[in-house]
Amino acid sequence: MPAGARERVRARVPATSANLGPGFDALGIALSLYAWIELAQADTTTVSLVGARSQGLPTDKSNLLYGIAQRVFDEAGVSVPELDIAVYSDIPLARGLGSSAAAIVGALGAANALIGEPLPRDELFRIAASIEGHPDNVGPALYGGFVAATWDGERAEHIRLDPPPRLTTLVAIPAYELLTSKARAALPEQVSRADAVFNLSRAALLTAAFAAGRLDVLRGAMADRIHQPYRAPLVPGLERVLREAADHGALGAALSGAGPTAIAFVDDEAGRKAELEAFMREAMGGPEGGAVELLWLAPSAIGLELETPAARLADERRGDAS
Ligand code: HSE
Repeated sequence: MPAGARERVRARVPATSANLGPGFDALGIALSLYAWIELAQADTTTVSLVGARSQGLPTDKSNLLYGIAQRVFDEAGVSVPELDIAVYSDIPLARGLGSSAAAIVGALGAANALIGEPLPRDELFRIAASIEGHPDNVGPALYGGFVAATWDGERAEHIRLDPPPRLTTLVAIPAYELLTSKARAALPEQVSRADAVFNLSRAALLTAAFAAGRLDVLRGAMADRIHQPYRAPLVPGLERVLREAADHGALGAALSGAGPTAIAFVDDEAGRKAELEAFMREAMGGPEGGAVELLWLAPSAIGLELETPAARLADERRGDAS
């Protein structure tokens, strides 16, 4: 084992909201809802799924996390064939909140830490983007904050910005799942030049707004013509949220990632939160009033975080003292 290798590590990774309206496959933000991935060297591979939101995944070597960890070991030229893997996640699956990106980034980060962190974070980002196929969830999951990113099939680039301090979000999570593959299959192969220009001008404005802390332009800057209109038939209530959320106290709204969750951006110090909650619940519940979970999620400035045994000890001691 290389120097710095550890017997057991735990990674914490945030949920993410990708696209943010116009920034399809390019922009994303980390949110304060987390998944934890723990890895240890073992004699036989086991995968423990802890908590309701991790259930249903394979518990043997066919688990995605095992394969991802092995990719890190291969790249570093190290052999760790058997792993004890544990997953706990508060991020709902297949809802557009980056659960798979969190799993990928958590497995990469934990595997890298287990063998003494030979790979730099930007290399983890490159591997994560290659696995996910687009960088807009894995970027903020890894780096935290607001991330603008590109992936050309070989190279991944990103710029990270701190989220504006007064920004918070309200997410409305429907009870049904929507697979990213299905939401991508609804998109046209080609878009018009007018729609391309529409989106790139909004994506540029939105990025500049985050850089300058200009929350006042979000309503117009979050408009999109290249994915949300095509996905709206799969997400009852989305059109109404996009059209009316700003009239009910939101700064702007979008489909979160590939959906079906809708996300509203909100000025934390503005006072219309109850009105927005009622609106989002009614709109996303559809005509039949389907179940919708509402969560207030502040942006997470921190992305992948490795919890060392020393940090855990410090947490426990703080817990004892309180
Ligand atoms: N940009 C991707 C999409 C995000 O909208 O399909 C999904 O993870």
